[in-house]
Amino acid sequence: MSLIFCSRTDDPDEWRAALGEHMPDLDFRVWPDVGDARDVEIALVWDPMADRLLRFPNLRLIASLGAGVDHLLAATTLPPGVPMTRFVDDNLTQGMREWVLLYTLYCLRRAPEYLAYQQARDWHHLAAPFAYERRVGIMGLGVLGAAAAKSLQEIGFQVMGWSRHEKNLPGVTSFAGPERLDEFLAASEILVCLLPLTPATDGIIDGRLLAALPDGACLINGARGGLVVEADLIAALQSGRLSHAVLDVTREEPLPGDDALWRAPNITITPHVASITNAASGARLMAENIRRVRAGETPRHLVDPEAGY
Ligand code: NDP
Ligand code: OXD
Repeated sequence: MSLIFCSRTDDPDEWRAALGEHMPDLDFRVWPDVGDARDVEIALVWDPMADRLLRFPNLRLIASLGAGVDHLLAATTLPPGVPMTRFVDDNLTQGMREWVLLYTLYCLRRAPEYLAYQQARDWHHLAAPFAYERRVGIMGLGVLGAAAAKSLQEIGFQVMGWSRHEKNLPGVTSFAGPERLDEFLAASEILVCLLPLTPATDGIIDGRLLAALPDGACLINGARGGLVVEADLIAALQSGRLSHAVLDVTREEPLPGDDALWRAPNITITPHVASITNAASGARLMAENIRRVRAGETPRHLVDPEAGY
């Protein structure tokens, strides 16, 4: 069984070594050195890749190197019937928990305002509520959203989540489906977005959604830039409807130097680093899924191509 690795951003040597720890017999090939394409049964992929995968007639698994598969589904012609898996790993989850906790507390404790006072050499006190006095709404209660909800809840926030299906997570109020979205938004003083980008969620964070939040709410988007209508976000920041936005992701990445988002008031931008795929830990699940495919079993964390995540 051979594996083809296709990514411009992930390091093939790291992945070869990490997978080799679990599967010393794995024949690991790196695009474009495909060899005999008929040998390849596993594709480990990240970048959009047009019709590359159609070259492999015996492909049995497309394993994404990221949790989000929006770009692969949008830009790749997939061989029909080949299962695709998402990247799920404790370290990826831990990274996102840390990023969400960091920026939720940053908003709660008014860190951006203190930074501005510091720059003005102004020794200034601001009132700040305790975490237990703030309601945080998390859009997307999947692997990452549920883990972030737990951390936020542990530090005292009142936590709510919105997802397609109702959830039963200790201490987290669950809202499900479009019919409960406005009720969820009306209570979300800090809105954290961990939704996948799909046809149903593209542009979901628009002027209408932002207007449904409490006055002065904060937005924290650690998911995908395409979820946000950026002109509407800038308008909400300019009007003061939103007091702060933290974006790890933008529609165009890297964000061009002349993009209006850089100049928007009360915004913090990080360069898609909320959580990064780690080969050493991620290889464990990859190896397990490869073994499952070899054994004719269903791999874990399958993508539903209809739903887009
Ligand atoms: P999951 O697939 O585990 O969770 C997705 C969640 O979103 C689920 O709760 C799902 O609902 C919910 N959802 C999907 N569509 C809708 C909808 N139309 N309406 C309401 N809820 C919806 O994904 P992960 O938690 O693993 O990852 C989330 C996203 O985070 C990824 O898709 C990726 O884009 C992004 N990401 C960003 C990183 C970064 O560094 N910035 C790093 C890693 C991931 P239900 O549970 O009911 O199915
Ligand atoms: C992912 C990401 O989807 O890093 O895993 O954005």
